[in-house]
Amino acid sequence: MFLHGTSSVNNSGHLEIGGLDTTKLAATYGTPLYVYDIELVRQKARAFMDPFQQNGIQAQVAYAGKAFCTVGILQVIAQEGLSLDVVSGGELYTALKAGFPVERIHFHGNNKSYQEIEMALQAGIGHFIVDNYLEIHMLKEATRRLGTKTKVLLRLAPGVEAHTHEYISTGKEDSKFGFDLESGAATEAMELLHGDQYIELTGVHYHIGSQIFDMEAFYVATEKVWRMLADWREQAGFHLQVLNVGGGFGIRYTEEDTPLSIQEYVEHVIQAVKNNAENFGFNLPEIWIEPGRAIVGDAGTTLYTVGAQKQIPNVRNYLSVDGGMSDNIRLPLYQAKYEAAIANSMNEEADTLVSIAGKHCESGDMLAWDVQLPNPQVGDILAIPCTGAYCYSMASNYNHITKSAVVFVENSEAKVVVQRQTYEDLVRLDNEYLPNLHVEKGNRESRVS
Ligand SMILES: Cc1ncc(COP(=O)(O)O)c(C=O)c1O
Repeated sequence: MFLHGTSSVNNSGHLEIGGLDTTKLAATYGTPLYVYDIELVRQKARAFMDPFQQNGIQAQVAYAGKAFCTVGILQVIAQEGLSLDVVSGGELYTALKAGFPVERIHFHGNNKSYQEIEMALQAGIGHFIVDNYLEIHMLKEATRRLGTKTKVLLRLAPGVEAHTHEYISTGKEDSKFGFDLESGAATEAMELLHGDQYIELTGVHYHIGSQIFDMEAFYVATEKVWRMLADWREQAGFHLQVLNVGGGFGIRYTEEDTPLSIQEYVEHVIQAVKNNAENFGFNLPEIWIEPGRAIVGDAGTTLYTVGAQKQIPNVRNYLSVDGGMSDNIRLPLYQAKYEAAIANSMNEEADTLVSIAGKHCESGDMLAWDVQLPNPQVGDILAIPCTGAYCYSMASNYNHITKSAVVFVENSEAKVVVQRQTYEDLVRLDNEYLPNLHVEKGNRESRVS
């Protein structure tokens, strides 16, 4: 297993993270357990900020909260001086609870409710990323009713979609997000907002995909957007202050993954924006980016306890653990691939091929196919690294399995930042339903309270 961040193997042959023995963390806090290497989160956050600062470029690095959104992590993100992208009233509420500086919060989402819009306006958030006509209508209505001014970016659908090393340029975008360029929707939206008394349109946003390893698509999309910005300047006198180019920067889950370094990603972003600003004769706008996975992804490791094994001769060896798709749905959802290790025997030879199954009632409830482990035994602690993004945030209570605890480790100290759910939590919001049934005599036995 590749060792990320502060992960290492100690003298007992155990996996350590943040200076702490993971087998002890498992014994103390139980499993499944999400362990976050906070020093690594801070390193990543700084790595995104540094190239902008070194080049003297006005920028905001907005952590995409959807990747992992808890009070504790948002406090770390705020401490590092980053901004925040939220996509719901719930994420916004969490940010406010964390004391996140409101002027650095950007509100995304393709179907914000009027209540969410009002909540964000009353909180005084920095920017709305406006996604559709209904939102423009509601935002105009709400700003006037509350007498509040706000700033917005328009979310664009540039018709270029990137994933790992490939991209497709569709021209017209088939996506639920944002305003299409080709159809004229984006320009129409700009006209609805440009010059509004209560709403300042400061710029545009686009996000072209996730786990991007190759920035070619990004250059293509950026040029397309810039052509339109040049038209807007000519035709409407629109002045671009902010260009938000989204997230999607890739990380290494397994050796098949070949991401660029964070510095390289940011340098490409700066280069693409500079090229276009120069070519189209613009001053350099503020550049905003929205990394999620690349900040928290490889800082998270999930610890499980090994349970039953099922060996099917000449077919497969299933190794079951005490979690699964309720704490990490990325394999069933995206065919995600992971590495794994036995945290209590890191120095043993990994000579046994297994597939790691969860404990839910779905055949697709798998965490990893075909990984080599050192002869796993019942009670071993299994570690799956790179589970920091889109795992806890997508966790569910399927099969009424309680959500796992989250522990932050830093400088050899551990802190529980999300408690493990209890069985009582599973029924806390349930109401009983025991009606007094009045059944006609003779039909069936009547129930008497
Ligand atoms: C608009 C937007 N910004 C940022 C992100 C974060 O992407 P990632 O976590 O891959 O960096 C997403 C992810 O879906 C997104 O939709």
